[in-house]
Amino acid sequence: MLITLSKHLGKYRLPSVLTPFFMVLEVIFETIIPLCMGWIVKYGIEGNDGAGDMDYILKMGGIMTVLVILSLISGILGAAFGSVASCGLAKNLRKDMYANIQTFSFSNIDRFSTAGLITRLTTDVTNVQNAYQMLLRMAFRAPVSMIFALFMSFMVSYKIATIYLAAVIFLGIGLSIIMMYARKYFSQVFEKYDDLNETIQENVNAIRVVKAFVREDYESEELKKAAGNIYKMFVKAENVVIWNAPLMQFTMFGTMLLIAWFGAHLVVSQELDTGSLLTLFTYCLNILGNLMMLSFIFVMLTLSAASGKRIAEVLDEKTELKNPENPEYEVKDGSVEFKNVSFSYSKGAGKNVLNNINLKINSGETIGIIGGTGSAKTSLVNLINRLYDVNEGEVKVGGINVKDYDMEALRNQVSVVLQKNVLFSGTIYDNLRWGNPDATEGECMEACKLACAHDFICSFPEGYLTKIEQGGTNVSGGQKQRLCIARALLKKPKIIIFDDSTSAVDTATDAKIRKSLKEAIPGTTKFIIAQRISSVQDADRIIVMEEGEVNGFGTHDELLKTNAIYREVFESQTGSNADFDEVKGGEI
Ligand SMILES: Nc1ncnc2c1ncn2[C@@H]1O[C@H](COP(=O)(O)OP(=O)(O)OP(=O)(O)O)[C@@H](O)[C@H]1O
Ligand SMILES: [Mg+2]
Repeated sequence: MLITLSKHLGKYRLPSVLTPFFMVLEVIFETIIPLCMGWIVKYGIEGNDGAGDMDYILKMGGIMTVLVILSLISGILGAAFGSVASCGLAKNLRKDMYANIQTFSFSNIDRFSTAGLITRLTTDVTNVQNAYQMLLRMAFRAPVSMIFALFMSFMVSYKIATIYLAAVIFLGIGLSIIMMYARKYFSQVFEKYDDLNETIQENVNAIRVVKAFVREDYESEELKKAAGNIYKMFVKAENVVIWNAPLMQFTMFGTMLLIAWFGAHLVVSQELDTGSLLTLFTYCLNILGNLMMLSFIFVMLTLSAASGKRIAEVLDEKTELKNPENPEYEVKDGSVEFKNVSFSYSKGAGKNVLNNINLKINSGETIGIIGGTGSAKTSLVNLINRLYDVNEGEVKVGGINVKDYDMEALRNQVSVVLQKNVLFSGTIYDNLRWGNPDATEGECMEACKLACAHDFICSFPEGYLTKIEQGGTNVSGGQKQRLCIARALLKKPKIIIFDDSTSAVDTATDAKIRKSLKEAIPGTTKFIIAQRISSVQDADRIIVMEEGEVNGFGTHDELLKTNAIYREVFESQTGSNADFDEVKGGEI
């Protein structure tokens, strides 16, 4: 995990090295200061047989001032570089995670939840950023400062320094026990956070459904429970952590008492001078303070370790769909061929969603696809523009295996109006130009006319400049579908797939859209997935899907004669008996 994260430091490597460097420099200057203070007492005040030495005091005072300024500057530089390094790391992590998410195939996306990805990009990165800053500034500073101060104390008086050593060991053991317990609770807190984020996100996203089902009170109660759990866990963890302070104070005051006691004896027996005793007192505070700091770093690192792991998971996730070595950039025509295709969402394990599919579709044909829900219609068309890879067999577009195409080139030629479609915040023009960024206003209008969207757009006061809200909540379901169709048309693809794209459009408009598409883009292969027979019956040929297999493939008339499922659907939807009624293409 650490290796993965450190790879993303980029140009922030230098500040990451400079921070501990300046922090250690600060420590060195800071540690010399108490020594000077001791010398001032020893030589400046008590020296010269008790008469004092003013010149010495002034000289040392000057040196101390310089040391303080140097330590201050080092501290500031260390802090500044620390901020640059940690914020930079956070920026890079977010950028690289986002870039990697963009390369995810649909099957990669299936593995992470949306809420999970957002938490990873926001809260988790912030945790790592804070921990990294703390680590750079303190992880070197605290131990170096402590060791330095210990070393200096031993130089001044090894007898007194032994008391420190005992205190450090005592405090170290005490803190470790506290941290062990705190860590257990804190890691549980973070697991609960994930749940809370997921609950909030799901509810806010689906706020309209929550309102429609009058579930506000229930949802608020759920949130209260989730937040309450975190509160309880935090209180538990904090109840352990608060023992830090009394332990710290007990050790500190205990040590001071011992130093005062032994120090006084040593001073009386003239083994130690008062100046040195003063120096030792300062080091005492320094050492114990640093130990306390180390314990905090430890907590912080434990907390962020979970976050770091979650970030690394996203960064390490490799896309399952890769461009071939020498990709084909040109899609010759809109013909599609499925050859012995089998497919499952979980590779290796689980039941096949599609089984042994063999289809040959000519360029320019209009193909209807019909079948019950869950019969794998969407799964079938998702293979054409390689949203997923097949397990067995091959899918060919324009006579070439889809795996041999450059993915962008393929997807530019195979346009899909997805079943679960979304519009993005921005004007209608902005949304349409997702299909083709260079489309002129005229082209946009043309596509909207074909998709029967022009009229309703013109009825809006701001027309094509009407702002669409996030998720397209301010247009109706049918209007949204028509905008999505227009967006797909703007790509001018060789193959266009409508996955249940007119389910929310009335039958008359649906027929009008099909008619205008037939006339305007006759060379484009069209796949129309629909639940309504009326949407597919005038297609050149119709595929009947049944539990992941092709149950029938032919024209409307052929299927009525030969395919039981098709005939049943037709009869149930039209209320007519196919054997007796004369069947005509078009609207019903
Ligand atoms: N992303 C996915 N991960 C795992 N299984 C999936 C996924 N999408 C669909 N499935 C499963 O694959 C099967 C076929 O689903 P598919 O969406 O292709 O059906 P469909 O014919 O398009 O249905 P509908 O008419 O309801 O849109 C279903 O059993 C479904 O549970
Ligand atoms: Mg579907």
